[in-house]
Amino acid sequence: MSETRREISTLIPPMEMSEGAGVRIRRTIGGPYQENLDPFLLLDQFRTDNADDYIAGFPDHPHRGFETVTYMLAGLMRHEDNSGAGGTLRPGGVQWMTAGRGIVHSEMPQQEEGLMAGFQLWVNLPADQKMCAPRYQNIEPDDVPHITRDDGIEIRVIAGEVDGIKGAVNGIAIDPTYLDVRVPAGQVFEATIPWGHTAFCQVFEGEAHISGTPVGGGSVAVLGDGDRVRLENHGPDELGFLLIAGRPINEPIARYGPFVMNTQAELEQAFQDFHSGNF
Ligand code: FE2
Repeated sequence: MSETRREISTLIPPMEMSEGAGVRIRRTIGGPYQENLDPFLLLDQFRTDNADDYIAGFPDHPHRGFETVTYMLAGLMRHEDNSGAGGTLRPGGVQWMTAGRGIVHSEMPQQEEGLMAGFQLWVNLPADQKMCAPRYQNIEPDDVPHITRDDGIEIRVIAGEVDGIKGAVNGIAIDPTYLDVRVPAGQVFEATIPWGHTAFCQVFEGEAHISGTPVGGGSVAVLGDGDRVRLENHGPDELGFLLIAGRPINEPIARYGPFVMNTQAELEQAFQDFHSGNF
């Protein structure tokens, strides 16, 4: 069977911004260059060893109608919500939070110095799941399946399937792929991503070449349709990137801040419910 390689369709440069109570982040999806990338609504990267950039954290705030996915590379983040649930996110750990009909939570650093690095991705929910009961999948670092290929490439399978290994997160509407891939200098990474899924790479270390085009510097490379992905590391450094994909939802988006619904009326209802304490 012939294969179609996914080529770069768009490069999204990161935009420096401040979020929460004053956390320095770099936004690609959901920023000024790319409003959304169905089914993905937002992607923020944070990486700093200056505590002033993260110490203020993300005090209590609501979400409704979508999912937030936090993946830590370094540092400790404490989360607590209005149902009384809480826990600590550690390097290599992931939290897939389905906000559904509504949650109010905080995400605060649990350290006063040292490196804090990671990502937050927002994943849309289809209309029939926007008002579902909130739920979490909190995956500890050791529970993320890990692959070491013969060529030294390391893959952490947060969601989806690669080399016959299934990811830690399941039961998600968009059937996501979420891989953390490390490629030694001189090696080539290839994998299969389902046809029709929106797919992109977020490089966070070194530089990738995709069909000859260099991708680095925190940029997101959105990939056109196909079934194969190929990234080359021409060196000299290790290449680290996230490979993320999911099935598009193809529904209207009514969005304001932490509420993402289908219509303006649902958005107004979300505000009303939040301000009357019905989350
Ligand atoms: Fe949040």
